[in-house]
Amino acid sequence: MLKIDKLTKRFGDKTAVDSASFDVDKPAMIGIIGRSGAGKSTLLRMMNRLSDASEGSITFNGQEVTTLSGSAKRAWQARCAMIFQQFNLVPRMDVVSNVLHGTLNRRSTVATMFNLYPTGDIHKAIEILDRLGIAEHAAKRAEALSGGQQQRVAIARGLMQDPEIILADEPIASLDPMNAQTVMEALRRIHEEDGRMVIANLHTLDTARRYCDRVIGMRDGRIVFDGTPAQLTTGVARDIYGAGADFSEAATSTEIETLDRSEPVPA
Ligand SMILES: Nc1ncnc2c1ncn2[C@@H]1O[C@H](COP(=O)(O)OP(=O)(O)O)[C@@H](O)[C@H]1O
Ligand SMILES: [Mg+2]
Repeated sequence: MLKIDKLTKRFGDKTAVDSASFDVDKPAMIGIIGRSGAGKSTLLRMMNRLSDASEGSITFNGQEVTTLSGSAKRAWQARCAMIFQQFNLVPRMDVVSNVLHGTLNRRSTVATMFNLYPTGDIHKAIEILDRLGIAEHAAKRAEALSGGQQQRVAIARGLMQDPEIILADEPIASLDPMNAQTVMEALRRIHEEDGRMVIANLHTLDTARRYCDRVIGMRDGRIVFDGTPAQLTTGVARDIYGAGADFSEAATSTEIETLDRSEPVPA
């Protein structure tokens, strides 16, 4: 259903993503791992068309995505919701309005200006919040919530579009372990119960192993591993991260980068 073929992105003479190819034949939950700078975010941004590919193609159910423009491009962006590390909510706005922002691209400018939302959409927003266990916070300002709750608001906003694909760029990198777990469990449930494809860039190996059916490893812009968590042995992981014998399974991509620059490892 999704086919990424020799997808490449260059910034000047830097190749951020280098001829990346992979196929997804059914809605899966896929984790993308690799050290900081490996090209994970650039890959996701091209898929969502936030960034234009330099070369290669993305096809979804036979439709070429890289060449879409105007309203067709916006329609594609609605079909693949993007979740970011920093949530990208409007902090001072209430939770339910943040979620309703997920319907923005199908509302008129006038309705948007006056914050007019159809009652059906408001009910749908509350239902989604309830499903994610945060309906009781619907009337609070987004900034009053914990990080894990805010990320679930961002997921709820994405779900308002009924996306077929959820692209998450390090969704738990700013969260403590408890909040990280609730967010990953929410993504996993959305994948299992709704049959949506989830592709998440993850900064720890542990998380990819625990929640994903398939793991893609990137190094220097290239896909160097594509397999199941069971196939992702410590040796393979060490190769993906380009780390030495001091490689730790629990290390994050940021820590590995630090290791490599031979700076002190943060405690
Ligand atoms: N807008 C940009 N302009 C120039 N270089 C960029 C830009 N975005 C990313 N890069 C470079 O592309 C490479 C991959 O970056 P990125 O996709 O952010 O990696 P990751 O998400 O794996 O940390 C890095 O070397 C980064 O510096
Ligand atoms: Mg990134």
